[in-house]
Amino acid sequence: MCGIVGYVGHREATDVLIEALKRLEYRGYDSSGLATLSTGRGKGRLRVLKSPGYISALEKRIKTGSSRIGISHTRWATHGVPNEVNAHPHMDGEQNVAVVHNGIIDNHLALKRELARKGHEFLSQTDTEVIPHLISEEYRHNGGNLFEAVREVVKRLKGSYAIVVLHRDHPDILVCAREKSPLVLGTGVNEGFIASDVTALLRYTNRFIFMEDGEIAKVAADGIHIEKISGGTVAHEWTRVDWSLEDAEKGGFKHFMIKEIFEQPRSLHQSQTGWRSDENSIPADLATARIIRIVACGTSYHAGMVGRYLFEKFTGLPTIVSMASEYRFADATSDDPLMIFITQSGETLDTIMAAREARSRGLKTVAITNVVGSTITRETDLTLYMRSGPEIGVAASKTFTSQLMMMYLFSSYLGYRMGYIKRDDLNSIKEHLRHTIRSVEGILNNTGPIREMAEWFSGSSSAFFLGRYVNYPAALEGALKMKEISYIHSEGYPAGELKHGPLALLTEKTPIVALVAGDHTYEKMLGNIGECSARGSPVVAIAPDGDVEIGRYTDRVLHYPRVDPLFSPIPISVLLQLLAYYTADHRGCPIDKPRNLAKSVTVE
Ligand code: AGP
Repeated sequence: MCGIVGYVGHREATDVLIEALKRLEYRGYDSSGLATLSTGRGKGRLRVLKSPGYISALEKRIKTGSSRIGISHTRWATHGVPNEVNAHPHMDGEQNVAVVHNGIIDNHLALKRELARKGHEFLSQTDTEVIPHLISEEYRHNGGNLFEAVREVVKRLKGSYAIVVLHRDHPDILVCAREKSPLVLGTGVNEGFIASDVTALLRYTNRFIFMEDGEIAKVAADGIHIEKISGGTVAHEWTRVDWSLEDAEKGGFKHFMIKEIFEQPRSLHQSQTGWRSDENSIPADLATARIIRIVACGTSYHAGMVGRYLFEKFTGLPTIVSMASEYRFADATSDDPLMIFITQSGETLDTIMAAREARSRGLKTVAITNVVGSTITRETDLTLYMRSGPEIGVAASKTFTSQLMMMYLFSSYLGYRMGYIKRDDLNSIKEHLRHTIRSVEGILNNTGPIREMAEWFSGSSSAFFLGRYVNYPAALEGALKMKEISYIHSEGYPAGELKHGPLALLTEKTPIVALVAGDHTYEKMLGNIGECSARGSPVVAIAPDGDVEIGRYTDRVLHYPRVDPLFSPIPISVLLQLLAYYTADHRGCPIDKPRNLAKSVTVE
């Protein structure tokens, strides 16, 4: 939540701060702001500009720029309503220090009271505002050493933070620090960058240092110096990130989400081919696991739910799936599970804290993530990469299907290593997956019927998505996609559960989306469709090509190219993403930035 940027170098700082910030807008978009130190007339004055709303509103307020250093921020409100006063950067009373912050300072009220007793006055309702005030106090007492002042202040902060600090008396450096919120440093020729993630900086560099918790850095045009907050220098390796700028742009599509939906044949292929190198990194002792536990949030949790069926099928091991926010508060069991953490961003705080907890219990931990160098990769024993490429749209699409791909690949490989399935089975699963990618291509090549259905669907205010077995989580994900981008209230249910309560809500105005695969659940699904039709609810069946029987139960059918039913969650999910996308587009919703949401949920 919240995106932050810092720049020092030879370019016009305002341009870099806005350009990079726009690429972080998916992290929060209720208000934004920037602070620069002017180098022309009025030299040495901190100029702060803020605006409620999208970054484009802030951009309109910029008149001229003449600075080589600055910081910027896009906000997802936690403390205080999204208005100009609460937008970052925040400053101290004397307007010497400007700070942007991502995270939550848990002890801000105590710090605020302490500062108020010393005469500090606060303008905003935010937790962040205490930071510049504390820095200004510390700076005064230590004789003007900004780096040490920031170090002493962050030692006192409880909670999570990634901060960047700009001081009017230090026109050549930015100081930044992190604890539980992401921060990357980048470098170019005579310039230094700071950002919440690499996509912000791809236009300028592909060489990054991923800061770790408990670190503080000084970033200047001629170099970067990193220390532990507790003391002692840190030597980081530079990481090269191969994502291109093109990957992080819309490329002619109306929204990032539809571009990302259409990228799925490629992202799925990358996930599958990339797996070959991951296989070799899997240590033999994983195959001694007796139970598996998957932990994740949101869409990643749904991928984990599909994974549960697959791990049970291919390894024979009992598999439990937990929401990360709940796992941490459950009592530890005496089991010794293999822990799998799924998070596309690698920055979801609930998932990170769950991984930390599991590791502290001495459990074997594996992360499945899309983002190289993200925090989760340092919290687990092993990282498996999804290789989907950057996903900017807030609603997960291509990363979900890549997560599914990883579930098929990882579960079958583990089962093979355990001797539970044979090499031939493994090869056959891989062949099915290749065929599944072709079926996704088939859906993307024929979106007309989905668009028409979406137009009809867009008049609804409430809907149910039903599935069974591996398509029960696909129903949950389809409903999540529909609700988050179209704002139509949508619930996913196991189809057999509807008659235990939700059936009471069905009317002729409540569409049902029923996911059908030609597996052992088929007859039961037809029965459930009949139950809904009998209550007058219009049913949209999502069924494989060639299924003629389904036409006897409903005349609203969207077909997908037939695959082995076990693999059907992949094409079905792509179809449901399109249904949600076109419905939301028809309703004129801000698809890439749904209200109240953020791509990366770095608060607990
Ligand atoms: C999905 O469309 C949402 N953006 C959300 O549920 C997301 O999947 C969840 O916040 C988890 O994110 P992660 O995969 O980055 O951990």
